[in-house]
Amino acid sequence: MTDNIVNKTGSTMSTGAPARSDRNSLSVGPNGPVLLHDVHFLEQMAHFNREKVPERQPHAKGSGAFGVFETTEDISAYTKAALFQKGAKTDMLARFSTVAGESGSPDTWRDVRGFSLKFYTDEGNYDLVGNNTPVFFIRDGIKFPHFIRSQKRLPDSGLRDNHMQWDFWTSNPETAHQVTYLMGERGLPLSWRHMNGYGSHTYMWINAAGEKFWVKYHFHTAQGMRFFDNAEAAAMAGADADYHRRDLFEAIARGEFPVWKLSVQIMPYVDAAEYRFNPFDLTKTWAHADYPLIPVGAMTLNRNPENFFAQIEQAAFSPGNTVPGIGLSPDKMLLARAFAYNDAQRNRIGTNFHQLPVNRPKVPVNTYMFDGQMAFDHSGAAPTYVPNAGGRPWADETGPADDGWEADGEMVRSAYTLHAEDDDFGQAGTLVRDVFNDAQRDALVDQVAASLLGGVREPVLGRAFAYWKSVDTGVGKRIEDKVFSGNAPKPAEGMGEG
Ligand code: HEM
Repeated sequence: MTDNIVNKTGSTMSTGAPARSDRNSLSVGPNGPVLLHDVHFLEQMAHFNREKVPERQPHAKGSGAFGVFETTEDISAYTKAALFQKGAKTDMLARFSTVAGESGSPDTWRDVRGFSLKFYTDEGNYDLVGNNTPVFFIRDGIKFPHFIRSQKRLPDSGLRDNHMQWDFWTSNPETAHQVTYLMGERGLPLSWRHMNGYGSHTYMWINAAGEKFWVKYHFHTAQGMRFFDNAEAAAMAGADADYHRRDLFEAIARGEFPVWKLSVQIMPYVDAAEYRFNPFDLTKTWAHADYPLIPVGAMTLNRNPENFFAQIEQAAFSPGNTVPGIGLSPDKMLLARAFAYNDAQRNRIGTNFHQLPVNRPKVPVNTYMFDGQMAFDHSGAAPTYVPNAGGRPWADETGPADDGWEADGEMVRSAYTLHAEDDDFGQAGTLVRDVFNDAQRDALVDQVAASLLGGVREPVLGRAFAYWKSVDTGVGKRIEDKVFSGNAPKPAEGMGEG
């Protein structure tokens, strides 16, 4: 025994009473059976069994930090939201993540990266839950569970599988734009500090006069966009699976606070009906020539979490969490997400997840949601129903919603209405031809060919060649030649998409 190093002030049980020992359980004699009435020991064992909560499905692996968002420009013509009024400084939390990997998976696998922001505003919490790309793979929420399962693991072996990924992508051609980003350099960011973030969806802004606008958010990294190549990313996946998590934490600890500049594209409300691309289609961008970037402000991450579990794992973001002056849009994906996140968090964290310090707003809450597991905020003896004679206020708006839009018609199951220039491959082709340079195009060809050589079989292989020829005939042909000549570079080990 080493009684001399025992901390005499001791630990306590969860009740606050002194714990007897954290090192020796109570037994009958030094070698005898352990006793059931050693409550401290039993509590330790039982609580340990419950230490984990389910990981996020998807976006399980990630981390984040706290910071501040400052609005530096006058954009009150477009939104009345308090956080976007010139001079406003708003405390915030950011969480970055990979999509498909589990909570212990390497940060440097090729994947889209999550870019989640929570603003603790004077009007309640506002969340913007986007990615490091301005578009997404699909445009109807009903496909989302299928998409995520196709990027995860095979049901028998539990392995990730290129064939399954390409099977999904090639049978859903609207994925082409996002797959082009993913197979390009954005699929391997050097660090979270070196990637851009996007709201991706079209949202609504409403100004003080009640005028409505459509808006897209762009967060440009002030650190500059930088990327890994396949070999570097694969080496890093083995050497330090937590490289991105470590990079952010250590940079902030050193006082190197990463900054992103926010700009928005604003579309007048009435333009949506006739814009050449359906502006609510999440697989499309708006041309900057049509809707130029308007600067708004900057976010700076300057404070690390003190406790990863409490402040990052239990953080709950939802694109449905809006504040006055900001609304959703007819984007079917966004509307699906408005339900999905809070529901996931009720399951993942618990019914009262919104009461946890990291999730609670800084403004007073007067909600008519009560009780449930682990309720600790309460409204005492105040009435629990509306209307009430007890003086407890309730909400009572009627008439048109200030953040609403017009929709009427028969109920249907249907794809979106196409606008003049809408198709599945056009913007992906523009990205390949007009945005990528020669080196980036070459890297794309190598990357896709390597991924296809990583176990993709017919009929998916043939579909993949057709898919890329639809994006760009030349690039598609080069991918096909490379696969048949078999001289594509080997897919980097450990990388889901090759
Ligand atoms: C209908 C389509 C979608 C559904 C149903 C969906 C659902 C989910 C769910 C259930 C989670 C886990 C939430 C949690 O446990 O806290 C999640 C996480 C996430 N999703 Fe989605 N998602 C969809 C599309 C998207 C899109 C289009 C984006 C980006 C533009 C996106 C970005 C994210 C991010 C960044 C996270 C991680 C949130 C965090 O950091 O905690 N998702 N998604």
